[in-house]
Amino acid sequence: MSKIDCLNIAISKGRIGKDASKIFKRIGLGDSIDIDSRKLIFKDKQNKINYVYVKPLDVITYVQNGVSDLGVVGKDIILEKDNDVYEILDLGFGKCKFAIAGMKDQKIYCKDELLRVATTYPNIAKKYFDEREQKIQLIKLNGSVELAPLVGLSDVIVDLVETGNTLRANGLEIMEEMFDISARLICNRISYRFKYTRIAKLVESLKELEN
Ligand code: PRP
Repeated sequence: MSKIDCLNIAISKGRIGKDASKIFKRIGLGDSIDIDSRKLIFKDKQNKINYVYVKPLDVITYVQNGVSDLGVVGKDIILEKDNDVYEILDLGFGKCKFAIAGMKDQKIYCKDELLRVATTYPNIAKKYFDEREQKIQLIKLNGSVELAPLVGLSDVIVDLVETGNTLRANGLEIMEEMFDISARLICNRISYRFKYTRIAKLVESLKELEN
């Protein structure tokens, strides 16, 4: 199966991967996907689709470079990573929100003070506080961000909140809700032109699932 004959789709590992796998199975195109295996490529010869299973930030890289025509990734990643991909569809799953959280009574806005913000999303946090003219010191972490205010590494965190369980378990509170997030279908701009018919058909099938 050559790359040109196939539709190449990058799926984000983690929470979104499970739901992405389910929707492709529901439209009859996901039989080859087995996210519980250690495989990274799933080939569907019958439908001429190659899936790759990669870390969320890398979905953008694969689609941007045209190695993958399409990708399934969270809006959080699209906002965080500079990109020139085409966002085609809100897939309606992977719903959560960005929030500023911290210990009870922590103030966020204080014109003359530097707010220490821990996050795995430095670009999103910087843009948000810049727009509100609050000076911040960014502390980039790679996970378990909720720990930072507890040990005095930061004043607040900027992070995704889904159920709120992680915040509650660590005695943190939402200070401000920032915006809603969900999984999106993204497309390489050149692929969109050259593989338009196949892509449009796939998008239609995914849209029908919502109805
Ligand atoms: C994410 C996010 C929060 C948590 C929110 O972390 O960064 O920590 O989920 O979910 P909740 O509101 O349902 O508790 P993830 O589990 O992906 O791990 P991480 O801390 O390593 O980023």
